[in-house]
Amino acid sequence: MRMDYKAQVTNSILSVLNGELTSADIYEKLEQPKTLAMGDLAFPAFVLAKVFHKAPNKIAADLVEKIDQASYEKVEAKGAYINFFLDKGKVASNVLTTIIEEGSTYGQNENGKGGNVPIDMSSPNIAKPISMGHLRSTVIGNSIANILRKNGYHPIKDNHLGDWGTQFGKLIVAYRKWGNEDDVKKDPINNLVKYYVKFHQEDKAHPELDDEARETFKKLEDGDKEEVELWKWFRRVSLESFNKIYDKLGVKFDTYNGEAFYNDKMDEGINILKDKGLLVESQGAQVVNLDKYDLNPALILKSDGATLYITRDIATAIYRDRTYQPAMNLYVVGSEQTYYFKQLKAVLLEMGLHSAANLHHIPFGLITVNGKKLSTRSGRIILLDEVLNDAIELAEQQIAEKNPDLENKEEVAKQVGVGAIIFGDLKNERTNNIDFVLEDQLKFEGETGPYVQYSHARAESILRKAGSLDFHTADKALDDPSAWETITALNEFPGIVESACKDFEPSEIAKYSLRLAKAFNKYYAHSKVLVKDDKLGARLGLVKAVSIVLKEALNLLGVQAPDAM
Ligand code: ARG
Repeated sequence: MRMDYKAQVTNSILSVLNGELTSADIYEKLEQPKTLAMGDLAFPAFVLAKVFHKAPNKIAADLVEKIDQASYEKVEAKGAYINFFLDKGKVASNVLTTIIEEGSTYGQNENGKGGNVPIDMSSPNIAKPISMGHLRSTVIGNSIANILRKNGYHPIKDNHLGDWGTQFGKLIVAYRKWGNEDDVKKDPINNLVKYYVKFHQEDKAHPELDDEARETFKKLEDGDKEEVELWKWFRRVSLESFNKIYDKLGVKFDTYNGEAFYNDKMDEGINILKDKGLLVESQGAQVVNLDKYDLNPALILKSDGATLYITRDIATAIYRDRTYQPAMNLYVVGSEQTYYFKQLKAVLLEMGLHSAANLHHIPFGLITVNGKKLSTRSGRIILLDEVLNDAIELAEQQIAEKNPDLENKEEVAKQVGVGAIIFGDLKNERTNNIDFVLEDQLKFEGETGPYVQYSHARAESILRKAGSLDFHTADKALDDPSAWETITALNEFPGIVESACKDFEPSEIAKYSLRLAKAFNKYYAHSKVLVKDDKLGARLGLVKAVSIVLKEALNLLGVQAPDAM
């Protein structure tokens, strides 16, 4: 639970008024003074000038007379403001006691009431390398799932694999012509991509290849045994290679219901559209008109009756609606599909699907690495796996320099390297485009994951040194001004957890963790924690609380927090 000092101050003011302002008015008007010398919260008395027909200075002075000051360090009128100085010792002891008692559940709330939230995330395409765009979807989706859980929801992480469509006709044809079983076994993705690329080089001169591919896909759709076997194999080896990356990232999914899963479930959606008279013919194709939404018509069936990406997404939405009765339906997919998801949502709304109103597309920007764009088509493929390996290697070098005697060096290097990538992504507002300079993200100083991890490890190392000294007795108030920034930051965590959930924005957690780490490092530079005086217990309490909250913040991002590094 968070101590809401703004609410406390609100009540103090409310109790000396006669209903001139509501508690919400007061709460909203409270300001945070520029410097601590002006108190922790300030109330601008001029908002009452019209009601009382008095000068604001006078109003401030009069009200201060009436306010019960017992629970504050002091309350003073300063010009038109009433400045409230919180009792820092009491606040510190409350905050620290709460965090130490609640441990990793600190900040947990039950706002979500257990509601199911399917999260469509990662969703790479079979037989293609998983790109940095899919990485963004994976880590953003994973963090949003953690944040939702912390807010009392039940997230369901669904990897909606791109495992169906006409491209598999092409791939099967290409494999039969130029492929080799052993090569695919050795290095599945790269070889499958090679065949696919070759298909597109050859089909310009040999258009009959396209016909062949179309027929092959038709056979696949109809369940022809050989085609299905090949497709299954491609899918399996692709998934095996994706899973290696997911393992490295520490991301698990609840379901892998890709597009193929919905191949036999599309009729229902099409029938609903037909029954409601929503499906109209346009140049031979079947579309849903979306004028009402100021959107272009959505193409649902091609003129040859072939289904599309959206046809499968409609089936997916119906399935999720029925299976989970979702409180929300989230799709973590790049900004380039924003228009598409507007159309999808509009179609589902027209269909009257229950959860359509709670469909949220959660877009994110592009990512480049060291200034290079990541794309499979341009031939400049930067594989996620390579980036991860480079990061781990850089982390190893840093650790070898800084802490050569560290026990589980390899494990920690993995946590730091991978953590740096995840954090480097999540610290940005998700819709921003980011350029990733790997070396920068791995620095132990600055706005990086390793910096936060290092701060947590430092806290743990202090606690190890303290040995059996008792931090549980935050008995002696910690009114040391240099601790105050850390205390207030610690107290903010539950509010940040709520706001990050409302905004689907992991960057709020990442930025918060940087703020807390900075405040703590400043405190640590100022004060000798382990001196044996009457405030030792309280100082250790602060270190313990920082360790708990930093670890939990990192965990919400999907980043590990090693105890030493
Ligand atoms: N496989 C798609 C791609 O890589 C993303 C799928 C997103 N999810 C969805 N339900 N449409 O672009």
